[in-house]
Amino acid sequence: MQGFITKNDIEAAVGAVRERTDFEPKIAMILGSGLGPLADEVDAVAGIETSAIPGWPISTVEGHVGRLIFGSLENKPVMVLQGRAHYYEGHSMSSIGLPIRVMQSIGVETLIVTNAAGAVNPEFEPGELMLITDHINLLGMAGQNPLRGPNLNEFGPRFPDMSQAYDKDYKALAREVAAGSNIPMNEGVYVCLAGPTFETPADLRFLHSIGVDAVGMSTVPEVIVARHGGTRVLGISGISNKANLDGATVTTHEEVLEAGEVIVPRLTELIRGVLRKL
Ligand code: HPA
Repeated sequence: MQGFITKNDIEAAVGAVRERTDFEPKIAMILGSGLGPLADEVDAVAGIETSAIPGWPISTVEGHVGRLIFGSLENKPVMVLQGRAHYYEGHSMSSIGLPIRVMQSIGVETLIVTNAAGAVNPEFEPGELMLITDHINLLGMAGQNPLRGPNLNEFGPRFPDMSQAYDKDYKALAREVAAGSNIPMNEGVYVCLAGPTFETPADLRFLHSIGVDAVGMSTVPEVIVARHGGTRVLGISGISNKANLDGATVTTHEEVLEAGEVIVPRLTELIRGVLRKL
């Protein structure tokens, strides 16, 4: 595959999905590190290993299985991506957008995207949720934008608006559900770094100073491709660790996966509540 995905790449991937299911999901969910068990909630009618889909970026990370599940949750037709791929695994930014193009091509109108993130905001505690109100596209500013390459006019415009990357009605819904169910939920700005290294204390002080509340290694490319194609987005981070601004503690992937165990029940309740109101 060249540095960008083409209409043919998307058609080939959609074809592989359609050979396996004719299910028409309206809502797609992407589950972040340690959050895969949320997929067990779905009343599934079909499942596809993502390795069977040509061009699909394969996840190699522990905590990411690489499966698409189709079915219903709270009586809504959903598809769930368990195990996303990341830029640090060697995929191009553009190929990280392929799953979103497939979702858009089979009728998805809403994307609920989740991730595990480190708290840059010192008020946030591990295990809490953060409603993503906006993001900083730091990698995009440095030239790594998933929409780089010829524009796919059938999906959206050359210069897509990003003033409302995270849908304001969905944010209001998530606030309502969290308040009604006493789910601890912060709000803030997410930044995606390339990884795989966690941040140095100086990196974190920089991120804090530019207005970042939580840091991770995903989500932003997917949201950009979603918005380009007119898909409405709800984004939720599960805070897995406190970012290490003073250099006093160490961040590990095990810690991220462990926090998932606390986050999954809260996230499940929040997402079920939002789906009921959609
Ligand atoms: N930094 C970057 N990515 C992450 C972190 C972190 O502290 N926690 C979970 N994903």
